[in-house]
Amino acid sequence: MLKWGLLGHPLSHSFSAGLFSCLNRRFNLEASYENFDIPADRVGEFFHFALKNLDGFNITVPYKLKPFEFPDIFTFDAAALIIGAINTVRVDGSKLMGYNTDFIGFIKPIKKRRFKTVLVFGAGGAARAVIYALHNKKVMIFNRTRKHAEEIARQFNNTAVVENISKALRDADLVVNATSVGLHGEEFYLLRGIKVGDLSGKLFYDLIYNPPITDFLKFGIEHGAEPLNGFKMLLYQAIENIKIWTGKNLEMEVFECSKFLQPVNRMANTL
Ligand code: ATR
Repeated sequence: MLKWGLLGHPLSHSFSAGLFSCLNRRFNLEASYENFDIPADRVGEFFHFALKNLDGFNITVPYKLKPFEFPDIFTFDAAALIIGAINTVRVDGSKLMGYNTDFIGFIKPIKKRRFKTVLVFGAGGAARAVIYALHNKKVMIFNRTRKHAEEIARQFNNTAVVENISKALRDADLVVNATSVGLHGEEFYLLRGIKVGDLSGKLFYDLIYNPPITDFLKFGIEHGAEPLNGFKMLLYQAIENIKIWTGKNLEMEVFECSKFLQPVNRMANTL
């Protein structure tokens, strides 16, 4: 029996445990998947626990950067190092191997579409995965803390920091929310009071999948744009996780199980 899990805090919005429980039930994956809702000061302890007790785990908000604080036990995949955020870990003997599958999950649902210019809201780990996936596009970044957007613009030479948000909205054919604004039903205040005309023909892509329609997506819909939430991204990044953990492609199985998904709300595991 393989042992996998999810590290984060809080985890009540997550669908991952539900997905893995369905994969087990319907397709005999022979793996358990537990939620580890761990406070920040015990994440190091969790990594040592995982080394001895798990075969792999996912990392979600707010710990995707934590592995870089533990270079003695982690080895990083090349893409994960450039992105600077880890969402998938494979236990490999005495080492934890850190990967990023968010960038693949992000790009797969839109890979048949053509975009030239992209506006990305956010400059955290998720935004960096998005920007890595969009390496051959022109990317404009808008973030609450401008300094964080400037740091990304220095690292990725296809990116620039937004000076005029209305113009950036008009110029972009893809608009991405990679911030956590909306995860708890909040207003997407970064677009408050912005006057733009018709945005039809553009895609508004929110990485958030729960709630399924965020205020960011509503803004796009009200202006004629097409909405896409992060549900397919979740599924495609899970397919990549499973490849890393087992070497198997379970795309059909993951899509079959996606029909039954509900957010999980379980008690935190203790170490
Ligand atoms: P993730 O791994 O989901 O990207 P993160 O690295 O903590 O998580 O990044 C969160 C992103 O959401 C950042 O861009 C953050 O903006 P700051 O750089 O200004 O912190 C953004 N974010 C989080 N809460 C926000 C809020 N209330 N308003 C605006 N932006 C917010």
